[in-house]
Amino acid sequence: MKLPEINILDEKNKVLRQKSNEVTFPLSKEDKKLIDDIITYLTMSQIKKYYEKYDLRPGMGLAFIQLGIPKNIFVIVEEVDDEVFENYVIINPKIISHSEELIYVGEGEGCLSVNREVDGIVPRYARMRIAYQDIDGNKQEIRVREDISVAFQHEMDHLNGILFIDKIDKKNPYKNKDSMREI
Ligand code: NI
Repeated sequence: MKLPEINILDEKNKVLRQKSNEVTFPLSKEDKKLIDDIITYLTMSQIKKYYEKYDLRPGMGLAFIQLGIPKNIFVIVEEVDDEVFENYVIINPKIISHSEELIYVGEGEGCLSVNREVDGIVPRYARMRIAYQDIDGNKQEIRVREDISVAFQHEMDHLNGILFIDKIDKKNPYKNKDSMREI
């Protein structure tokens, strides 16, 4: 596999604070290429041979805005088995419904735009139903739960110019811990 040349913006970059825009179809060639590049990058970042060779931080999600493009598109690459990956390409997502139950990732969330450890609780819905469009513009629905629900919310926040660090209480990073389930 060849590592795609993509430039991920750092948290200090104000572009990350921009709201992304609705995407119209058909997608341009460039956008399709970028989606493929992101899938390859995220996959390679989770395979030891490649992340060691290229000194990559492992990551499972990227939104277009993290590459400086304000479009409502994100990609998630989940390792479902040893070096077996499942991709989600999500365009123009909307939450249809969500659980009352909140969860948080015990070891903390990570982001390829945040190059430091940040401790604290990021409250997320345990389950959601999402409407979105696929790469061909077809309307789709998906149910997500647990870590994939967290990943979807993390990426949807990017589309609104929000980073996970914004959601951690500054004074008390473990506020309301007992009202949420740790995953
Ligand atoms: Ni992120």
